[in-house]
Amino acid sequence: MCGIVGIVGQSPVAPLIVDALKRLEYRGYDSAGVATIEQGKLSRRRAEGKLINLQRLIEADPLDGTIGIGHTRWATHGVPNETNAHPHFSNGVAIVHNGIIENFAELRAELAADGYEFTSQTDTEVVAHLVSRELSRGLDPVKAAHNALKRLEGAFALAIMFKGDEDLIIGARNGPPLAVGYGEGEMFLGSDAIALAPFTNAITYLEDGDWAVVRRSRLQIYDMAGEPVERKRQQSIGISLLVDKGNYRHFMEKEIHEQPEVISHTLAHYLDFANGTSKPIEMPFDFAKIDRLAISACGTAYLAGLIGKYWFERHARLPVDIDIASEFRYREMPLSKASGALFVSQSGETADTLASLRYCRAGGLPIGAIVNVRESTIARESDAILPTLAGPEIGVASTKAFTCQLAVLASLAVRAAAARGTISRDKEKALVRQLSETPRFASQVLKLQDQIEKVARELAQVKHVLYLGRDTNYPLAMEGALKLKEISYIHAEGYAAGELKHGPIALIDENMPVIVIAPHDRIYEKTVSNMQEVAARGGKIILITDKKGAEAASVKTLETIVMPDVPELVAPILYALPVQLLAYYTAVFMGTDVDQPRNLAKSVTVE
Ligand code: M6R
Repeated sequence: MCGIVGIVGQSPVAPLIVDALKRLEYRGYDSAGVATIEQGKLSRRRAEGKLINLQRLIEADPLDGTIGIGHTRWATHGVPNETNAHPHFSNGVAIVHNGIIENFAELRAELAADGYEFTSQTDTEVVAHLVSRELSRGLDPVKAAHNALKRLEGAFALAIMFKGDEDLIIGARNGPPLAVGYGEGEMFLGSDAIALAPFTNAITYLEDGDWAVVRRSRLQIYDMAGEPVERKRQQSIGISLLVDKGNYRHFMEKEIHEQPEVISHTLAHYLDFANGTSKPIEMPFDFAKIDRLAISACGTAYLAGLIGKYWFERHARLPVDIDIASEFRYREMPLSKASGALFVSQSGETADTLASLRYCRAGGLPIGAIVNVRESTIARESDAILPTLAGPEIGVASTKAFTCQLAVLASLAVRAAAARGTISRDKEKALVRQLSETPRFASQVLKLQDQIEKVARELAQVKHVLYLGRDTNYPLAMEGALKLKEISYIHAEGYAAGELKHGPIALIDENMPVIVIAPHDRIYEKTVSNMQEVAARGGKIILITDKKGAEAASVKTLETIVMPDVPELVAPILYALPVQLLAYYTAVFMGTDVDQPRNLAKSVTVE
């Protein structure tokens, strides 16, 4: 989604803004722009495509102002081109925006009737004109901005600059995140702490409905009624040091290889390995006292939740309702007060997940947030944060956040089972020990990368791929298909292996690779039957299994990837790795933009 940067600085800000926008690239974007004011003159440069295009424009025709705003745009209203790129101007007002102004059509008609001309197809331009109309009525910039903000419906983060005041940026937030950073005689605005990290580690997150008057030596935050509000100033960790590809070609590759370490950190947060039990961390609810669990999330985080459902139900005998958040928020699910709710999100800013959380909050449910960004909105609105300790995930395709979400869910399932008395103390110890071995197994699995790269070379030649799995490998099959679609643009579907004969079997022919995720577990034989159905129709099978599974496969495969023998509880965490590597190498062979695939955003802050 769009990224915002603003600087009221001491030296020319355009290069700093471009640099900060680069750190927001991971969010996904299709055009970018910067505006500055210098000696009373408002100027901007905007470019379609990657930031390098904008950077070249600025190098050829520099912007020298010491105050400026910048933006990476992920198109919602209007195609990605220079005219629709931000900042948008109206009579000396410059604006950048992340989100959607839902009443923009009504506002546009009203402003057009007042003689305002629109040069873009965006919803953002109405905000620039609204502010400018308030100024033309004699209001000062702060009052004009406040009046304009009160007219807006929808989700927005905004930065607004005024030609007549070179010491003022107004930031506003209603939905998508916005943080203010404090410098020495300068101030910053940014969509997240990563954008601001090289400038400052002292930041304040605006809350929904807040707007801020940002000057070089002063910050004042107000609520929508115009009352001053106090917001916590906090230290953000020096994230910028960590956001670096190291020796890897892509962030995704680096993040895949970080998994042994980050899974280990995450598990250690929840589990006491020495005593074979859970650590006494703050929980949103007591598993012994709830009779249902609602889980909601989007995309990969949803698939992690779906695997969690198998674990909670199997080990803790706790029924789980799991929903895609965009469905959950509107399907008017009756909520029982005896339920707990968990929301899973890497970014902690996904609009649909946040809306589902608020639905549960209104229904009086205790709420836990499994998030990677602890300062995020979902984290802040929960009763307890259940962190994934994955570190910043920059690749748009989620990898290490996914396996860390699984690590949290598996740890919570063990905790729930112990609390509910559905497993013995010995079983609890055994499960904790199994989880403690996951990082070591993960390192072993990563050594399979050369073989996986070879398989990916084949996949890069095809147009369609089918993934099959049973039990927890079914959500993993869907995750495999999602990863492949996202970064290689190959059409892929993930199916429950038992569903094959109810429809998708019609797709099988000699051109269709079928990737089967099947450790040798208690239902392995059932999956072998499905593989036979595929083989009988000429489908090319790529089997991901363990040694026993490879020996018992009894079908000809194009390739068999043999994983270490791992306990059933931890298998989904480890089988996620070959699935990620397959997608990664396929995308590399296809030459796609692995870290920033087309049309995708890292953090989806609009519906
Ligand atoms: O930040 P979140 O975990 O809430 O994001 C949810 C999805 O947008 C995300 O998992 C998406 O599906 C990823 N691109 C998958 O790789």
